[in-house]
Amino acid sequence: MERTSIIDALKQNKELAHITVCGWVRTRRDSKTFTFLELNDGSCLSNIQCILDENTEAYKALEGVNTGAAVKISGKLVESLGKGQHFEIQAIEMTVFGLADSETFPLQKKRHSDEYLRTIAHLRPRTNKFGAIFRVRSEAAHAVHSYFHNNGFFYVHTPILTGADCEGAGEMFRVSTLPVNTNGEIIQKNKEENIFQNDFFGKEAKLTVSGQLEAETLATGLGKVYTFGPTFRAENSNTPRHAAEFWMIEPEAAFMDLQGNMSLGEGLVQHVTKHVMEHCEEDLALFNKFVEPTLLDSLKATVEKDFQRISYRDAVKLLQNCGKEFEYAVSFGTDLQTEHERFLAEEYFKSPVTVHDYPKGIKAFYMRMNDDNETVAAMDLLVPRIGELVGGSQREERLDTLTKRIIELGQDPADFWWYLDLRRFGSVPHAGFGLGFERLVMMLTGVSNIRDVIPFPRTVGSLEF
Ligand code: 4AD
Ligand code: MG
Repeated sequence: MERTSIIDALKQNKELAHITVCGWVRTRRDSKTFTFLELNDGSCLSNIQCILDENTEAYKALEGVNTGAAVKISGKLVESLGKGQHFEIQAIEMTVFGLADSETFPLQKKRHSDEYLRTIAHLRPRTNKFGAIFRVRSEAAHAVHSYFHNNGFFYVHTPILTGADCEGAGEMFRVSTLPVNTNGEIIQKNKEENIFQNDFFGKEAKLTVSGQLEAETLATGLGKVYTFGPTFRAENSNTPRHAAEFWMIEPEAAFMDLQGNMSLGEGLVQHVTKHVMEHCEEDLALFNKFVEPTLLDSLKATVEKDFQRISYRDAVKLLQNCGKEFEYAVSFGTDLQTEHERFLAEEYFKSPVTVHDYPKGIKAFYMRMNDDNETVAAMDLLVPRIGELVGGSQREERLDTLTKRIIELGQDPADFWWYLDLRRFGSVPHAGFGLGFERLVMMLTGVSNIRDVIPFPRTVGSLEF
């Protein structure tokens, strides 16, 4: 179907004798001899105004056309005398694809709450705010790829179905084809057998929490790689920052240490922010006006200022002596809570900050042991309003130390035979991180709930659509 996107129509610098646009009617205003339709096609935040004069064929097709209707309008693109737009369309013909009954169409021209819009997640892309969020999400994804591509990283695909628990946190969804009886119980013919022996893979299968372990294998062949794909966590945490299904970006590079890893993460956040500021100006202005009034200032600072770095040890001292009352006390060895992370980024440094060298007791088995035998070469990048955006580390490349850590954490090294092989054959210092893509989109838009930056959020107790 031949049509001009509204974004392109509005960008014209001269009048056109003929143009066709398609879209959904946002508003209809009738006067005595003509009707105005504001049309949006999702290509940008702005609508294009169409004037349907009573003497045209287009006017005759107006019956029942209201907010929500899908139409095609052909006419002349002319300079607008009205305020707020350069160009408008003098309609000649209109085709109506689908009407939307004003009695029942839920998106009438008024502001709806985020909570209400979540219940109609299938329709919310047609609102200004969610159109803008999903355009920013798309642009940010492009920028992620361009950053790694520009830096010589290969894009690799790691499995979603897995038998390994990367984080060792046991927060995984099980995937099974085992038949169940009418009570929902697994039918087990031979009670002696391991129940998963008869399952699809002949062993217990899960949805991955991270592609890191597989990415490490690719990095030790291709050098520099990254994944960008869905990951799953069965954490029972009902917070504005946790989803059961989210997208993670995981670079992994051979011959890279913790310092290089921190720089890579900082560079990624700055690159994506800059790209979105350049390509989504109109959408960001909307967020700054209606969602988060400090957004543009904070994005500008993110791009222009160097990020801060602080060791976990110093961060703990700082939090203990800052004079602020926290709900949870901090001491060496405890994990930082979101309130601590936000204090550091938002109030103390007033910028993104990377905390590094955490105590081994609160981090995963694969992180490289430091010489103090007490901390590991871990890093978390914390950002204002959100807290942890990135988690990563230099990886333990020494076979003995890694095997010891696996055993210490109650796991069986035999389950990790292939992962340990990377340390048996041509082992190298290497490092990587995971960045939660939804949290990045929250940072870029000022949206405070993860449920609103993913088209169909999956959270505890919620699986509609
Ligand atoms: O810190 P995490 O758990 O790190 C890993 O999974 C590593 N294997 C990554 C690596 O080194 N390759 O998760 C990484 C990031 C977090 O910093 C956070 O931004 C995001 O993933 N994340 C979540 N985002 C949304 N909902 C959840 N439930 C999340 N859990 C983690
Ligand atoms: Mg983490």
